[in-house]
Amino acid sequence: MNLKLFCLLCGLYSVLAREGRYSSPVLHGKSRQLLLSTDQTLLLNCRGRWKLTWLFPDLVSDQVRVENSRCGRTKQHYCSHLTVRPTKADNTGLYRCRYEHRPEKETSVYVYITDRQQPFVEHSRMSPFVLYKKDKEPLIIPCRTTSPNTTAALSKYPKGTRINPDERNILWNSTIGFTIRSPTFFYTGPFFCESSNAGVAHQSRIYIIHRTVSNILEVYLNSSGTVQALKGERLVLNCTATGEFNTRVNITWHYPGQNNTFHSITKRIQTHRTHMLFYSLLTIPKLQRSDRGQYTCRVSSGDNAKQQKVAVTIYDHPFIRLKPRHGCLIETEAGQKSYKISPKLRAFPAPEVMWLKDGRVAAEQCSRYHIEGYSLVIRDVAEEDAGKYTILVRNQEHGLCHNLTLTLEVKVRPQIGEKAVSLQDPGPVQQGSRQALHCTSHGIPPPHMHWSWHPCPPKGLYCDLPRGWYPPH
Ligand SMILES: *[C@@H]1O[C@H](CO)[C@@H](O)[C@H](O)[C@H]1NC(C)=O
Ligand SMILES: *[C@@H]1O[C@H](CO)[C@@H](O)[C@H](O)[C@H]1NC(C)=O
Ligand SMILES: *[C@@H]1O[C@H](CO)[C@@H](O)[C@H](O)[C@H]1NC(C)=O
Ligand SMILES: *[C@@H]1O[C@H](CO)[C@@H](O)[C@H](O)[C@H]1NC(C)=O
Ligand SMILES: *[C@@H]1O[C@H](CO)[C@@H](O)[C@H](O)[C@H]1NC(C)=O
Ligand SMILES: *[C@@H]1O[C@H](CO)[C@@H](O)[C@H](O)[C@H]1NC(C)=O
Ligand SMILES: *[C@@H]1O[C@H](CO)[C@@H](O)[C@H](O)[C@H]1NC(C)=O
Repeated sequence: MNLKLFCLLCGLYSVLAREGRYSSPVLHGKSRQLLLSTDQTLLLNCRGRWKLTWLFPDLVSDQVRVENSRCGRTKQHYCSHLTVRPTKADNTGLYRCRYEHRPEKETSVYVYITDRQQPFVEHSRMSPFVLYKKDKEPLIIPCRTTSPNTTAALSKYPKGTRINPDERNILWNSTIGFTIRSPTFFYTGPFFCESSNAGVAHQSRIYIIHRTVSNILEVYLNSSGTVQALKGERLVLNCTATGEFNTRVNITWHYPGQNNTFHSITKRIQTHRTHMLFYSLLTIPKLQRSDRGQYTCRVSSGDNAKQQKVAVTIYDHPFIRLKPRHGCLIETEAGQKSYKISPKLRAFPAPEVMWLKDGRVAAEQCSRYHIEGYSLVIRDVAEEDAGKYTILVRNQEHGLCHNLTLTLEVKVRPQIGEKAVSLQDPGPVQQGSRQALHCTSHGIPPPHMHWSWHPCPPKGLYCDLPRGWYPPH
């Protein structure tokens, strides 16, 4: 009985042990750090039980290649190979391989790409970078180096005392930079790191240290409403935040593909005399159908937060959809101030539109014809505006072309020709003679006419024309 239980436990244990083997992904090679020089190839192999993704320092997209495959004897594992070629000093940093669905399970390796000409990853040719210092919090000056053995000193710009690591308050670590555990007021303003390599001094970029203020004034996205794009296109969104001078903000993007490592986010800060401008550019190099949805840029600073949203619609193909709004026969009335011919048109990308009237370019035929958006507007409608109107919709780049012809009928109110000239009094006529009375009318559609007769008032010599004699205006 005890033996049975023991064996059961022992079986369970071996299952757990086997399962436990890849509870986190495993990087090939035991070393936690790698040393390469520039213009080499960095190759990292990662293996695990589930789908893998990578996180790595900013890389140029044509420098990096990721290949995923199934591996293991029974293809039970996932393998991912990351290749970076050619290596550059800027690629120095932490390379992390993690499970796509459980990113907390990760394995990493710190890679140094040693470059004697560039001991600092953030070198002196880079523009100054603003760092924010919070009271009672350690300050990190991120002058990481491209080689593990570089020793560095910190200096206040332009030429100040060199501050060397002291293992107590000022710590140096080549993968982090300088950490100042309890920074005093001295640590504000411009600083840089220095190292000397075979007698040649090198400097890092300049870090401008500010005390933190947290006041976001405004946040904008450079497009409001909806952004439309085609599958495979590149999408760039620019989120801008303004803050009070010395404010520090975090700009984060929340959107459907936010876990995709091929999307890049570039951040910039501009300091103005009275305020600061922060912007973050989100670039998606090749849009997929799954990238459609809501894009939110969230700006936070301390307890303060503001956000802006934009919806992104992605079309598989360019298209033009054109149809009449209410049939192909449309009508208006002469004398209207304006009449708009607007068929239903949906298209992407925005097409070129041309209107023809009876086969000739409408706008060239009459100065009363105007194009508003995709519609044709006729001002002061007249009888001669009746005819066939054709809208030509074209997207030359994608070879799309559609047209639609609508027939416009212009109604004209009936008019009596004799009314235009002053009414001729027929004069006295002889009893028994034959008289012809003329009434000429015009209208579209042709009006019906009818005559009515009213006896004259007893004493009147002439008839006054009664009301209602003519059809009303
Ligand atoms: C760094 O220093 C260690 C020991 O001090 C040495 O073994 C190693 O070769 C050095 N590495 C480089 C890249 O100089
Ligand atoms: C530097 O920092 C890294 C990351 O925190 C740590 O793993 C490493 O041990 C540190 N190196 C030294 C020399 O303290
Ligand atoms: C937003 O700004 C970026 C950068 O200027 C530009 O490339 C992009 O086309 C803009 N996006 C929209 C939707 O206007
Ligand atoms: C992003 O927008 C801000 C203003 O809204 C502008 O100053 C900046 O140049 C834009 N960035 C790019 C790369 O277009
Ligand atoms: C992205 O990954 C995080 C975990 O890091 C997860 O919580 C989130 O749901 C993922 N987002 C999307 C849109 O897949
Ligand atoms: C920005 O985010 C980081 C990490 O989420 C946080 O430590 C930091 O305090 C934030 N900064 C501001 C100004 O909110
Ligand atoms: C309108 O489209 C038809 C085909 O749908 C085509 O035959 C005709 O030539 C087009 N008309 C014009 C004016 O482009």
